[in-house]
Order: sequence, then C-alpha cells, then structure tokens
Amino acid sequence: MFSSKDIARYYDVSESQYRFFWNLDKSQSLHYGYWDNSTKNLHEALLNINKVLSQKVNITREDVLLDAGCGIGGSSLWLAKNIGCNVTGISLSEKQVKKANELAAKENVSHLAAFQHTDFTNTGFADETFDVVWAIESVCHAHDKSAFLKEAFRVLKKGGRIIMADFFKKEDLFGKDAQQIQQWAHGWAVQDFSTKDDFQMQLDQTGFSNVKIEDATAAINPSAKKLYRSYFLGSMLGFFYGLVHRNPTSLGKKNIDTAYLQYKTLQKKLWKYLLISAEKKF
Ligand SMILES: C[S@@+](CC[C@H](N)C(=O)[O-])C[C@H]1O[C@@H](n2cnc3c(N)ncnc32)[C@H](O)[C@@H]1O
Repeated sequence: MFSSKDIARYYDVSESQYRFFWNLDKSQSLHYGYWDNSTKNLHEALLNINKVLSQKVNITREDVLLDAGCGIGGSSLWLAKNIGCNVTGISLSEKQVKKANELAAKENVSHLAAFQHTDFTNTGFADETFDVVWAIESVCHAHDKSAFLKEAFRVLKKGGRIIMADFFKKEDLFGKDAQQIQQWAHGWAVQDFSTKDDFQMQLDQTGFSNVKIEDATAAINPSAKKLYRSYFLGSMLGFFYGLVHRNPTSLGKKNIDTAYLQYKTLQKKLWKYLLISAEKKF
C-alpha cells in the first residue's frame, strides 16, 4: 500500500523525467491533455484539457475552486489567468506546492491561486467552502476513492460541481491483463485503478446527482502514444545513467516502464480515460 509519503516521493523523484519528456516547465502539466481536431501539438493538448473541463461545468470568475491534487499548479494557474476565478490547489508533495506558489507569484496571480500541502481525503476546509472541486489524474492515487468523494461533497457548497479526468480499468480483469494494469499502477504509486461502475456507484452513494460520464480515451490516445515512444529513449538514458552512477533509482526506472505499459494496456482496451462531472444538489 502506498503511503502519502510514497506518493509525494514518486512525484519528487520523477519530476526530472516529466521535465524532460513532458516539457513540464512550459506546460506545468502532469496529465495526458486532450486532443481535438484543432490540437496541433502536445503542449496545446496539455492546456486544452483545462478549457474542456472548465466548459463542462461552466466555471466562471465568481467560482471558488479546489484543485484536488494540483501537481505544480498548471490547471489552477490556467483557471486564474483565463477565467479569473479563485483557486486553492492542494498536493501531497511539499516540493510541488512550493513550486506552484512560486509560479503563481511569477505569473502575478497569487491573489487568485494559492497552494498548500493538504490531503484531499481530509482537507480541513470548512463545510461548503467551494463551488467546484476539480481533479485531474489525482483521484486514481486514493486507495479509498469514496474517501475523496465524501470530502469533496462536504467541502462543496450546495449546487456545487465536481469535475474530474482520470483512468478507469476494465471490469473483471485477470491473468496477464490484471498483472500489467497492476504493474502500471504501481509504477505510478497508484494502488489500484477504479472501474467506471464502482466509481459511479460511489458517486451515487455519496449523494452526487446529475452524474455525467464521458469516454475521452480517443482524446488522450496521441499522448499515450507519445509517452510510449519516450519509453525507448527513457530506457536508453536510464541504462547509461545506471552505468555511470551505478545507482539508478527503482522509482525512476519503474516510471519509465509505465510509459510502455500504459500504452500496451490501452491498445488491449484494458482501461479508459473518463471525464466525470456531477453536482451536489441544493
Ligand atoms: C498526476 S498528478 C496530476 C497533477 C495535476 N492535476 C495536473 O493535471 O497537472 C497527481 C497529483 O495528485 C496529488 N495527490 C495524490 N494523492 C493526493 C491526496 N491524497 N491529496 C492531495 N493530493 C494528492 C499528487 O501529489 C500530484 O500532485
């Protein structure tokens, strides 16, 4: 079972890989992005997901948002700059939080976007603080996804919305399929992915209504392919790093292997990328 510290450490150790392969400094994104007909490159796709999700739940400048699992703050900063809403980003990594606050200051949006080291299953925020809870590729890390949903429901105002983009494994996996999905998950410090049906049931049980689930797998496929291609370069670089330093970190090595597994399992249709929105009724 991955602890909060393990998850934070995974991001801290693999930051250089995201910088190198995912252009982290420019995109500020630790996600797959969203490719549509007008998307020309990875950078555009990485930013585009922010536009797509914000339109799905109609975010306006009056909204107060929680970015649950904010990475280095890319989405929060995009929302502050492009919509002008108020965002609090939270992450398990203190390093990410520090970086996100530095970026907010550099980009002159500290008055709108602030970041703190907080667990999204136990935030400490007062009931009914936020209009929107936003989570891109972060909820997969929760062992108990319903703990996140309960906390999101608690901190949402009545009439508030939740919007998520995440990975969901196919029902009833076994044998090599189950093993590959597990190996991929563990490479990213994810204990296990949820299935769509389990998650939908948890949303219902938590009290969310107007649940909408959209399969966006086709929109992330080009990113999955790019990540897969980076596996070969990553393996080579890792090999030479290991030779020189005689001490490659196993976390870094596993992260490179996941680049291969996520695509192989996608080709076998063992998982889907879903956009999920729901409301907390008045
Ligand atoms: C794949 S990154 C996504 C970051 C960001 N949403 C983005 O799209 O760039 C996952 C993030 O979730 C955060 N995270 C995972 N579990 C968390 C938890 N229990 N509480 C807060 N943040 C968490 C990690 O620290 C990391 O910042």
